[in-house]
Amino acid sequence: MSKPFYITTPIYYVNARPHIGHAYTTIACDTIARRQRMLGFDTYFLTGTDEHGQKIERAAQAAGTDPQKFADEVSAQFRGLWQRMGITNDDYIRTTEERHKKGVGELFRRIRDKGYIYKGTYTGQYCVSEELYVDGLKPGDPCPTCGRITETVQEENYFFKLSAFQDKLLELYNSQPDFIRPETRRNEVISFVKSGLRDLSVSRSTFQWGIPVPDDPKHVIYVWLDALSNYITALGYGSDDTTKYKKYWPAEVQMIGKEIVRFHCVYWPAFLMAAEIPLPKAIVAHGWLLFEENKMSKSRGNIVRAETILDVLGNDALRYFLLREIVFGQDGSFSFDALVQRYNADLANGLGNLASRTLTMINRYFKGEVPFPSQRAARKAGDDVIAEQAEKAIKECKALFDQYQFSRGLEAAWALVGAVDKYIVENEPWALGEKQDEESRARLATVLYTSAEALRIVTALAHPVIPEATAKIWAQLGLDGIAKFDLSTLKWGQLQLGSKLGKVEPVFPRADKKAIERMQEMEDQQRGGVVTDAQPGVPEKTAAATPSAEAAKPEAAKPAATVSSDGKITIDDFAKVDLRVAQVKVAERVKGADKLLRLEVDLGYETRQILAGIAEAYAPETLIGRKVVIVANLAPRKMRGLESNGMIVAASLEGGKPVLASFLEEVPLGARLK
Ligand code: MSP
Repeated sequence: MSKPFYITTPIYYVNARPHIGHAYTTIACDTIARRQRMLGFDTYFLTGTDEHGQKIERAAQAAGTDPQKFADEVSAQFRGLWQRMGITNDDYIRTTEERHKKGVGELFRRIRDKGYIYKGTYTGQYCVSEELYVDGLKPGDPCPTCGRITETVQEENYFFKLSAFQDKLLELYNSQPDFIRPETRRNEVISFVKSGLRDLSVSRSTFQWGIPVPDDPKHVIYVWLDALSNYITALGYGSDDTTKYKKYWPAEVQMIGKEIVRFHCVYWPAFLMAAEIPLPKAIVAHGWLLFEENKMSKSRGNIVRAETILDVLGNDALRYFLLREIVFGQDGSFSFDALVQRYNADLANGLGNLASRTLTMINRYFKGEVPFPSQRAARKAGDDVIAEQAEKAIKECKALFDQYQFSRGLEAAWALVGAVDKYIVENEPWALGEKQDEESRARLATVLYTSAEALRIVTALAHPVIPEATAKIWAQLGLDGIAKFDLSTLKWGQLQLGSKLGKVEPVFPRADKKAIERMQEMEDQQRGGVVTDAQPGVPEKTAAATPSAEAAKPEAAKPAATVSSDGKITIDDFAKVDLRVAQVKVAERVKGADKLLRLEVDLGYETRQILAGIAEAYAPETLIGRKVVIVANLAPRKMRGLESNGMIVAASLEGGKPVLASFLEEVPLGARLK
């Protein structure tokens, strides 16, 4: 019986469509899962979507739809993307599924029965965007994590006795130093826990979109307790069939982004300890994918979609770039230039070129059969150097991949590609091929065998990262079923002499400058079009269901609202304008534009940048904290090189002086005017 290996991604919120930040985590986990399968582990890989909570409820409201429908659409986009990317997840959990709800209810009940849940009253600040209770803030203070204004919550809640687990958690971090990786995150968590843990509110009663508390359905379970449970409910915890749960839990690796370390390294083990459930072996946190120096995220509007890269360069290019370019655990930048550069250098000119020149020459000079290397006379020291380099690559790759150091592992494998390239240039097999004497033939056989064997080894090592191209190269080498190859047996000299090559075809065509332009254009079109983050919270209805040409058409190109001859519009026409309440967080003058202010406004579910021609009427500092009305679904526009995502509504007085629309009563952020 092979050893079980359970690996999970975070479950992604359905308020945003997938982008390459999400893909990064999923690709890293997929790579680990593929490698573990090749090493003979009974691997189980889980991903899914997080669909409850106030943030999703509000995003659905903003999109004018009900939360379930909203979640269905976005969850399907995530699932569709993973399918397109060939992600090998064994299950896909959605927190709105019955199996999950049942398991969460069971976990809540169990923790309560053990005496760790009690009723009390919570008064404090809550960040809806992070779905996080924040201690020590006053009403109106921003969330220290994301900067959005927190909301005051005062309600009767169920509390979890987190304070009872402070010592147990510290003991856990101490006795299992690998529980939190990397070290920097571990240290952060330890100091957070040492600073003191307050009991945690684990229910909400002021909104509905969640799983009801067992026996008290006025409350819904706190979305993080709900979400974290997915890791066991997907295995059947709380259901009639617990076979998978018994087999795969505890997880070997739970991969997360660094911003959710506290939830996974403090709350999650505490919940499990309370329920007397075994703890996962390791929580591994990676860094952020940055775009233009900021975390790539929907609210910043700086996302890049995976689909664009898949369309232009393919799946392997995205996977290779993310794992090779970013030092795992640290933040790393994404740019189309760097992507294409890396693709050309390592894949097109590197592995792709090595494969095509080696295999083409075997075809030409040895009728497509792996040649027999010379045993004695025609050997040179360089041949053995390649064999040693290959053994070194195998060893280093193993050690580094075991530690999830993907970039260094790939570097070690590609050192072999570089060495073989050099070896081929030095030995000039094309010149040897022109000669007919026995020694030249023997030398040629050795050089091509050595190159092909090194190619086989790099291909096997790289398979978990670039599964598509390596499967093709493997078949071109005349081998079958790379995914089934037992990676633990990989060593120099396994290539079958005399075996027949498969059909040789290029795997990585070179990309030119146009590839960068195409990708940039595709992304610009997305941002400026109907399906855009400029209309946050609106699920990408069109992308999967209708032809993309229609989906990509800018709003401006769509037929305008019909105006009747008396100048009246219908209520439906009016409803197309999405007017919302927002709060000014940042206001500053725009250099060289006397009338223009650059504002950052908070809509409750996201923050966005708007340029407003009100600088002559309002000093920027007087606007901070002020609630305004914005047109939230206006197509983005560039002014002075800055993108404006919406418009502030103001009365226009004589002489053009604007007076901002405002309210006498208190109004929540994001509220719609209709
Ligand atoms: N729903 C919660 C997680 C619950 S897990 C029980 C959540 N969802 S999320 O969609 O906001 O983000 C989840 C994860 O997506 C991050 O932890 C990270 O793994 C990945 N990423 C999202 N944006 C990313 C980057 N810009 N860079 C790297 N990873 C990113 O939090």
